[in-house]
Amino acid sequence: MKWWQNAAVYQVYPRSFNDSNNDGIGDLPGVNQKLDYLCDLGIDAIWISPFYPSPLIDGGYDIADPRDVATDLGGLEAIDHLIKNAKAKNIKVIIDLVPNHVSSSHRWFIEAVQSAPGSNARKRFHFQDGKGENGELPPNNWISLFGGSAWTQIESSDQTPGQWYLHLFDKSQPDLNWTNKEVITDFDQTLRFWLDRGVAGFRVDVALGLCKDMNYPDDLNPQKRVDAIRLDLYDPMNLDSSEELRKFLIDSPIFDRDEVHTIYRHWQEIFAEYDRDVLGVAEAWAYPTARAMEYAKSLGQVFNFDFMVMPFDAAILAGTINQILETSIEYKSDPTWVLSNHDASRVVSRLGGGLDGLQKARSMAMLAHFLPGSIYVYQGEELGLEDVLIPAEERKDPIWINSGNTQTGREGARAPIPWEIANSQSSEPHSTLNLYRWLLQLRKDHPAWQVDPSQTTHRVDGARLEVARGASVRCIVNTSDKPIDVPTSVGEVVLAHSSSLNEVKQVAGQINLSKFTAVIVENSGM
Ligand code: NOJ
Repeated sequence: MKWWQNAAVYQVYPRSFNDSNNDGIGDLPGVNQKLDYLCDLGIDAIWISPFYPSPLIDGGYDIADPRDVATDLGGLEAIDHLIKNAKAKNIKVIIDLVPNHVSSSHRWFIEAVQSAPGSNARKRFHFQDGKGENGELPPNNWISLFGGSAWTQIESSDQTPGQWYLHLFDKSQPDLNWTNKEVITDFDQTLRFWLDRGVAGFRVDVALGLCKDMNYPDDLNPQKRVDAIRLDLYDPMNLDSSEELRKFLIDSPIFDRDEVHTIYRHWQEIFAEYDRDVLGVAEAWAYPTARAMEYAKSLGQVFNFDFMVMPFDAAILAGTINQILETSIEYKSDPTWVLSNHDASRVVSRLGGGLDGLQKARSMAMLAHFLPGSIYVYQGEELGLEDVLIPAEERKDPIWINSGNTQTGREGARAPIPWEIANSQSSEPHSTLNLYRWLLQLRKDHPAWQVDPSQTTHRVDGARLEVARGASVRCIVNTSDKPIDVPTSVGEVVLAHSSSLNEVKQVAGQINLSKFTAVIVENSGM
């Protein structure tokens, strides 16, 4: 069994996690200071979002040097220290790899811009001549995920038209050309650099985007193609449109092309040089689920983002769970469950905010922790935080800027963690923090959580979703805005419930389940 199969992984977005030196930004020594907090929470690993030197146009996903650590985050010394201390507390460290693109301030791109068309320096990227009489039009109609054309023209030093380079994201993030040998070998070096320092694995950014159709054909539906990748654009209240949108991930000249797995199979050979199991977890929102599972096969694991876009609805949740479990069993890869990350609204806000949003989010958490597989917890999710409203004049997200200030962007979910809330929740028995602690402990210690995924069953009755693992435990979720009564059999007791108001009561053979809450019941065999 690999260490990640049932693991609980905590995502740290370093600049807003914990600030150790009061310079106004979170840093790696700040993560180090919170290792005891993370240990008490009960997680197995932390995944740290990019900490590399970067101009920070895209929150650090624009990397100037993938084999270094930004000085304001503590430099290489700080990550070495963190890996060592985390290991002493039995916490593994996973880092973010961004193979699709680099920052335009990466030495390779600077060299490419200064070199001639067709040169080796340009071949590391996707440079193409423009269309039109004077090369004034982009090479094709591909669109950036952050808005506008996916191509930007550079200035030329002579009278000839400057070439265009491809960037699936911001123009400050030129895409690397993965058919180029140098790109491949340089990345091998990056993998070994971090594995030698002791990391336990990698989260692979845009794992489905590295290989493009090298004939650069026009796309029939360029806008829909990129909308399908943007989780922040999904409308949970309009599932039909979301399902239709996801179909645009099929047969794309850019996304989820079969060739991409050759790269990951090669990485596996590098992972095998180390005497430990190395995780690769893919950010690959592919369609259908079976296509996404191909990444679990070639890398180790793939994020399942379904819970991040689903409405709080018993039948829809049941359908999703069923599909994920069936495909995971078929692919022999334990599923992953994700409620939030740095790219989308916080789960409480997404589900409507306020007390109702909180109760729904806590139920979703209970359900996700109950299911077999591993769980990813985004910093602050365990505190039930909501998005913070960032004033328009302070927003820097390229999504906000490149959309001409029409799409809010992702900064609301990236605000600094208010640690005073964590302190006060620590001693409140029904706080979200204590709910997460309890759920994480159950996952680790309770025998029912060790039961094989194939023993998971579920049924739906109106707004009541019930999932069972083996014969002894079941999780019941009330997705309606009215209380429901759940009959219990002799010997069944409440193991945990999600109500922050402690409203769930078991009396006379039944449990009164308040609106939007969940309960885990155990048959103690009496
Ligand atoms: C996905 C990352 O999660 C997101 O934050 C980033 O903007 C894009 N990839 C580009 O790297």
